[in-house]
Amino acid sequence: MKSQLLAPYTIKSVEFKNRVMMSPMCMYSVFEQDGKVTDFHLTHYGTRALGQVGLIMVESTAILPNGRISQEDLGIWSDDHIAGLTKLVDHVHEMGAKIGIQLNHAGRKADVPDSIVAPSSITYSEAYQQPEALSENEITEIVKAFKDAVIRCQKAGFDVIELHGAHGYLINQFLSPLTNKRTDQYGGPIGNRYRFLSQIIAEVRALWEKPLFVRISAEDYQADGAHLEDYLMIGKWMRDAGIDLIDVSTGGLVNVQPTNIFPGYQVHYAEEIRKVVGIATGAVGLITNGAQAEEVIGNGRADLVVIGRELLRNPFWVREVAIELNAKDQLKTPVQYLRGWR
Ligand SMILES: Cc1cc2nc3c(=O)[nH]c(=O)nc-3n(C[C@H](O)[C@H](O)[C@H](O)COP(=O)(O)O)c2cc1C
Repeated sequence: MKSQLLAPYTIKSVEFKNRVMMSPMCMYSVFEQDGKVTDFHLTHYGTRALGQVGLIMVESTAILPNGRISQEDLGIWSDDHIAGLTKLVDHVHEMGAKIGIQLNHAGRKADVPDSIVAPSSITYSEAYQQPEALSENEITEIVKAFKDAVIRCQKAGFDVIELHGAHGYLINQFLSPLTNKRTDQYGGPIGNRYRFLSQIIAEVRALWEKPLFVRISAEDYQADGAHLEDYLMIGKWMRDAGIDLIDVSTGGLVNVQPTNIFPGYQVHYAEEIRKVVGIATGAVGLITNGAQAEEVIGNGRADLVVIGRELLRNPFWVREVAIELNAKDQLKTPVQYLRGWR
C-alpha cells in the first residue's frame, strides 16, 4: 500500500519527507538558565531526526527572558543564542530532517523571578505571580521582540517558524475574552483581540519567506471563553495574512482540564478549520499509531500529523508506523542502521 502519511509534502520551497511533525515539547534542559542550547537538545532532536520524522518542531523558545515558561526554557532574546541554535539546525539537517522553532512569550504563565506581564492583570493560578497589564508601548516592544527573534531564526537557518498562540500563553491571552479585559484597541471585540497576533504576523511575514505556522487552542473549555467558531474567523484572517499552516490544539488558557479525552480527540478541530477556512492544518493530540495517522492524512482531515508523547516514548516511531502500514519501501534507512532496519 502506498502511504500518504509517508509521502513527501511541500510548503513554499520547503519539502518535508513525510507528513509527521514532532510536536514542540519543553524539555526544561537549559541547565545554566541562560536560554542556550545544550548537548541534551542535540541528542534529543537529533535522535528523532534519525528516526525519520519529517519536521522537528523545537520546543517553546522564549523571545524575552520574562516570557519563559520556566528558567530552563530555550531562549532567542539575544544574539548570544544564535550559535547554539545554528548548531542544532545543522545537526538536525545532517540527520536528514527539516527543523522549525516555536517562538513564544508566556505572559501570565511565565514562572520566572522577573516581573511578568499579560493583556490584563489576572492571575492564572495561585502558583503564579500577578501579571502587570501591558501598556500599548510595551505591546509594541513585544511585537518587535518577535521580529528580532525571527532575524535570529534566519541566521540560524531554521526551515519553519511556529508562533505559539495556544495553551494560554501571551498570544492566546490576547485572543480569549477570559484573559483579555482591555478597553483599548487590543481588547473588546474579536478583531481587537486578534490585533496583537495580527501585528506579529505582519512583522514576521514581511521578513520570513519560508513556512510560517501558528499553533492555536481552538477551545477554551469554558462557556464564556473562545471556541471553534471564533477560530474559524481568526483562521480566515491568518490565512489572508499569509500563514501557511494552523497547528490545532486546545486548552491551557484557564486552569481546567477537558473531561472528554480519547484517541485523536482534537483532530476534528483541525479538520473543520481546514475545510471552512481553506488552509493547511496540523492535527495533534493522542495520535499514537500508523492507522490513526494515515486515516487523518488519507481522509484529508489535516495536512500534518503532530506527534508529542509517542515520540518521547519511541524516537523510531516512524519506522514502526512504516512497518504497520506495510510501507517500508517509503522509509529511508539511515545508512548506519541498514543491518538493523532491513
Ligand atoms: C513534556 C511536554 C512538553 C510540552 N511542551 C509544549 C511546548 O513547548 N509547546 C507546545 O505548543 N506544546 C507543548 N506540549 C504539548 C504537546 O506539544 C502536544 O500538543 C500534547 O502533548 C498532545 O499531543 P500528544 O498526545 O501527541 O502528546 C508539551 C507536552 C509535553 C508532554
